[in-house]
Amino acid sequence: MINEQLENLRKEALTEIKKIKDSDTFKKLKIKYLGRKGQLSLILRDLKKFAQAERPKMGSLANEIKEEITKAFEHLEKSVKKNLGKTTSYDITLPAKRMLLGHLHPLSQIETELEDLMVSLGFKIIDGPELESDYYNFIAVNVPLAHPARDMQDTFFVEDYKFSNQDKELEEQYRLVLRTQTSATQVRCIEQFGAPLRVISHGRVFRYEATDARHETTFDQLEGLMIDKEISVVNLIAYLKIIVRQLFNREIKLRVRPGYFPFVEPGMEVDLECLICQGRGCPVCKKTGWVEMLGCGLVHPNVIKAGGLDPAKWSGFAFGIGITRLAMIKFGINDIRLFNNGDLRFINQF
Ligand code: PHE
Repeated sequence: MINEQLENLRKEALTEIKKIKDSDTFKKLKIKYLGRKGQLSLILRDLKKFAQAERPKMGSLANEIKEEITKAFEHLEKSVKKNLGKTTSYDITLPAKRMLLGHLHPLSQIETELEDLMVSLGFKIIDGPELESDYYNFIAVNVPLAHPARDMQDTFFVEDYKFSNQDKELEEQYRLVLRTQTSATQVRCIEQFGAPLRVISHGRVFRYEATDARHETTFDQLEGLMIDKEISVVNLIAYLKIIVRQLFNREIKLRVRPGYFPFVEPGMEVDLECLICQGRGCPVCKKTGWVEMLGCGLVHPNVIKAGGLDPAKWSGFAFGIGITRLAMIKFGINDIRLFNNGDLRFINQF
């Protein structure tokens, strides 16, 4: 009888110990089995009732079971302590390692913001090559070979480009240049998509310039082109106002004055009220109160023709925003050379 009781106790105790999940149960079970008034003691108390001869056998079985249960508790305690050691080495109060999150370059920030806006106005985003032919960069946009207007944009020519047929003029037309303006995409996309057309394209352009705080050999432009019927300067200015309002989150004064670009007629330059001095005049705006921001106008009939459309039927507007200039005004940056020098101390401020 008592044999059976002891064996049952052993089984029960060992399975219960295996299931322990918290220290409260651990303590309770330890008392339940090994405590002074625990189950083992109760059974042993009854030993007296048995014949003298049987007692040693029972006693040693009871002791064996006691030892086994004690070991099971000890074993559990040890393994918990071992794991505890592991978890305490992870101190959640220590400052975490900083995760380095990247972000968009200030120029990309403005360009993506304008992309979103222009797409919402029904414009398509297209891209053109930075290494461009003289044809698309100049000739197609109404700047023939030897036109004096070429002097307006000092150009990087790619010298060793040789056209296989020895025709000098063809060779000049198709020699490669680093595009000097995003206007180089105008005729490319009229040819590709025809009319009506609403596109923007943006990216780097290159000029052979002596660099200083306001001039760089590489800068960003954003070109807009709309071809449709009966487009006028009113349409153009309305879009420009929307763009400026989007970028600065408020109404900003624009000044429109005549300007010459061979691919528009009439051509205009648009200035932005200087935000550094609120138009009162400061070194940034050279005391004029205005900062040059973009060139624009109604698309010249020769450009429409070059794209394969009939200028009697189609008209349009085009603008080219100096994105780098705009970023300087928006973020208050006083040196254009900071944008491309790769210095993280500059980039990480935006
Ligand atoms: N491409 C001109 C420039 O780089 C800007 C411009 C674009 C002017 C479109 C008129 C129309 O100066």
